[in-house]
Amino acid sequence: MNQAMITPKEKDELIRLARKAKENAHAPYSGYTVGAAVLTAGGNYYSSCNVENAALTTTTHAEGNALAAAVAAGEREFLALAVVTDADPPPFPCAICRQSLAEFDRGEMLILAANLKGTVRETRFSELYPEMFGPHKLL
Ligand code: THU
Ligand code: ZN
Repeated sequence: MNQAMITPKEKDELIRLARKAKENAHAPYSGYTVGAAVLTAGGNYYSSCNVENAALTTTTHAEGNALAAAVAAGEREFLALAVVTDADPPPFPCAICRQSLAEFDRGEMLILAANLKGTVRETRFSELYPEMFGPHKLL
């Protein structure tokens, strides 16, 4: 259902918004700033950053926060996500974020990982999380 073609313009916009959100990352403990943005089936964009916490385990991740911002706005269908860090090569979302994404996607989402150097890696969510545990296992 979500196997839509994402245009180069949409990819650029996702990365631009993720880079912008990264500037607001709160990462005083790790120094590792992350920005993420999602594109919905309706063509809307939502972005966020990582928000670290002195209690450490309370830290929230950029991808999960971008998804939560979209869900709070009433969104439920997602076409793509971009995550931006300084790392080279740019890493894809961690396992916790993959589980958060699995709630709303069966594997078709396009996942972009970019860095400030301009390197962009690209994959489908199903490649990152085969045999995903999601709502289809419970509902
Ligand atoms: N982080 C994310 O925001 N997303 C990920 O998928 C990996 C890790 C954050 C958490 C923490 O603030 C910092 O990056 C270092 O782990
Ligand atoms: Zn994560």
